[in-house]
Amino acid sequence: MRTQVVIVGGGPAGLLLSQILHLQGIDTVVLERQSEEYVLGRIRAGVLEQGLVDLLRAANVGDRMDREGQIHEGFEVSWEGRRQHINLAELTGGKTVMVYGQTEITHDLYDARRAMGGTVVNKAEDVTLHELTSHKPYVTYRKDGKSHRIDCDFIAGCDGFHGVSRQSIPKSVRQEYERVYPFGWLGILSKTSPVSSELIYSQHERGFALCSMRNPKLSRYYIQCSSSDSPENWSDEAFWEELKRRIPEDAAQKLEVGPSIEKSIAPLRSFVSEPLSYGRLFLAGDAAHIVPPTGAKGLNLAASDVHYLSTALIEFYKNSDDALLSAYSETALKRIWKAMRFSWWMTTLLHKFPENKGFGDRIQQTELEYLFSSRAAQTALAENYVGLPY
Ligand code: APR
Ligand code: PHB
Repeated sequence: MRTQVVIVGGGPAGLLLSQILHLQGIDTVVLERQSEEYVLGRIRAGVLEQGLVDLLRAANVGDRMDREGQIHEGFEVSWEGRRQHINLAELTGGKTVMVYGQTEITHDLYDARRAMGGTVVNKAEDVTLHELTSHKPYVTYRKDGKSHRIDCDFIAGCDGFHGVSRQSIPKSVRQEYERVYPFGWLGILSKTSPVSSELIYSQHERGFALCSMRNPKLSRYYIQCSSSDSPENWSDEAFWEELKRRIPEDAAQKLEVGPSIEKSIAPLRSFVSEPLSYGRLFLAGDAAHIVPPTGAKGLNLAASDVHYLSTALIEFYKNSDDALLSAYSETALKRIWKAMRFSWWMTTLLHKFPENKGFGDRIQQTELEYLFSSRAAQTALAENYVGLPY
C-alpha cells in the first residue's frame, strides 16, 4: 500500500491533521492502536482557544461545536475567600474561549473522516517506522494477525506521550525537558448542573480545586490530590465534601451533587522533546509535549502544531517547497514553550506545594495578591488563556 502521509495516532491531533490534509487533496492513512470506542471513551479537557475553533470550522467539523458549545467570556479565581473575575473579553479586546468537550471533538472528527471516506485503521498493532532519514520512509503494522506495509512521503507522529514516534528519533538526537509535579488531579464527571456559569479556579490551603462543565447538565470537577492517590480511595461523598471545603462558600452551598459517571486521577507534568522533526518524521501534539491541565493547553497546543504541520505539508505538495517543513520544529516550539511557561505559571500559582514552606508560600501569596490587584497581571493571564497568536 502507498499513501502520501502516514499519521500515527487517531486522537484529536492525528484525526484533525488527516481531515485538513484530505480537504486539500492530500492522501493520508491514520493508524490508531486502540478501537474507536476506546478512543471515544477518554474524558479530557474542554476549553478551546479561538485558533482551534477556527481550525475545526475550516475543516468542516465545527457544526456540532457551534450548536452545543458554550462561549465563555471569563472565569473566576478564588483565594482565601476572595474572588477575582478574569474578564477575558474585556482584557483581550473581545477574545473568548469555547467550552466543548475534547471527547466530542474526537467524535466529530471520526464522523467526518468516515463521511469523507478517510482511511483510519483502528487496532493497528506494532506500528513501526522505517527509513525515516531516507526519501522513501515506510510504516509497518499488524492487524488481525496480518502484517502490513505502507510506503509514504512523510510520517506524522500524533501518537501521544506513550507512542512509538518520539521513541523512533534516536536518543542522541533528542533533548527532553521535564518537570513532574508532586500532586495529581482527581476528576469526576457528574450529570448535575454546573455550580457556576463560568469556570472557578480555586487556590486553597487544602489544595487546588476546579469547577468546570461540559454542558448545562454535565459538570466536571477536579481536586488536587497526592500523586500516589487512587480514585478507589475516594467515594463520591468524600469527593463532594472535599470539593465543598475548597471552593467559595456560596458555591459550596448551592453545589448540586450526584453520582460520578467517571472518576480518574491524572498526573501533572511539563514535558517537551526537541526537535519535533527527524528526517521525514514530524511530531505533533502530546507525542512532542505534555502540559499540566491547569491552563487547558494540551488540546490547544496539539491544534497549533497541526496548523503549522498541515500548512507546511500543503505548501510542499502544492508548490514543491519544503521550507516550511524544514522550519516546522523551530516554528512550533516557539508557541509550545510559551504555552509551557503559562501552564507552569498557572500551576505554581494555584496549587499547594508540600515543599513550599516559608519563602515559597509567601511568594505564591504575593503572586496572587499581584494578580488580584493589577490589571496588567490580569491581562497577561487573559491573553495566554485565550491563546497567543499562531
Ligand atoms: N500506534 C498507534 N497509535 C498509538 C500508538 C502506537 N504505537 N501509541 C499511542 N497511540 C494512539 C493513542 O491510542 C491515542 O489515541 O495515539 C493517540 C494519541 O492521542 P492523544 O494521546 O489524545 O494525543 P493528541 O492527539 O496529541 O491530543 C492531545 O489529547 O490526550 C489529550 O491531554 C491531551 O488534550 C491533549 C490532547
Ligand atoms: C475541564 O473542563 O476538563 C478543564 C477545564 C479547564 C482546565 C482544565 C480542565 O484548565
